[in-house]
Amino acid sequence: MNEEDAVTAAVLARMGGCPEPRARELSTALVRHLHAFLKEVRPTQEEWMRAIQFLTATGQMCSDHRQEFILLSDTLGASMLVDAINNPTGGLATDSTVLGPFYVAGPPELPLGADIAKGRAGEPMRVEGVVRGPDGAPIADAWMDTWHSDEEGFYDVQRGEQPELNLRARFRTDAQGRFHFRSIVPTFYPVPHDGPVGAMLLAQGRHPFRPAHVHFMLGAPGCRTLVTHVFLEGDPYLESDAVFGVKPSLVTSLDRSGPEPVLRYDFTLAAA
Ligand code: BEZ
Ligand code: FE
Repeated sequence: MNEEDAVTAAVLARMGGCPEPRARELSTALVRHLHAFLKEVRPTQEEWMRAIQFLTATGQMCSDHRQEFILLSDTLGASMLVDAINNPTGGLATDSTVLGPFYVAGPPELPLGADIAKGRAGEPMRVEGVVRGPDGAPIADAWMDTWHSDEEGFYDVQRGEQPELNLRARFRTDAQGRFHFRSIVPTFYPVPHDGPVGAMLLAQGRHPFRPAHVHFMLGAPGCRTLVTHVFLEGDPYLESDAVFGVKPSLVTSLDRSGPEPVLRYDFTLAAA
């Protein structure tokens, strides 16, 4: 055995005694793939130190309002791969996509019809639809958290001067499973790119933009919680989302036939 393979074998042998089977599987697979990567790309000492500095900077960028590691996972396609493994498309349930870093648990619960875009100057829109269960029947009292960026492409938590929660809420469906609320038309926006992930995107010759979308997280007793977005047809970044989150079934057109644009989307939840 050559010297390089002997290092890999020694590490794997040491981990062979790991008592917990899943921890052993994860640890040994990580070492096999990490060592194979290093043997393929053959980093210099300086390159390996830069890699360690990159991961260090990624951790140091994290705060209560910024999760650079989620952003790294998203921009490397890892988040969507984990999503595909756990929520394969093709069933009756609505497709899922990335959670993203801007979800705030426990948003204000508002009555149906409320306006979630307090004081923002964007184009008003109505959002409406029906939430159905695995049998196709509408679900009364399903909970739905929604959040999205403003007309300039920023989330409330990114705006220092607007600390209160805005453009986000929890709604509950009515007796016919329907929901509706008012907001403003979102626009495409860049993922935060002033940190290590932004430097990585630049080095890779990639743009940081996500196509316009509204986030939803929905649930009901006996159903799996669904994390998804609805994207707007016609957005210039639908084909090149920086985080690979677009699925064709999640793209819809704004209905502009009435006095104001309507974003209409029906959701179907899978069984728990
Ligand atoms: C978002 O849609 O909010 C988002 C998702 C992934 C990375 C950054 C932002
Ligand atoms: Fe978003």
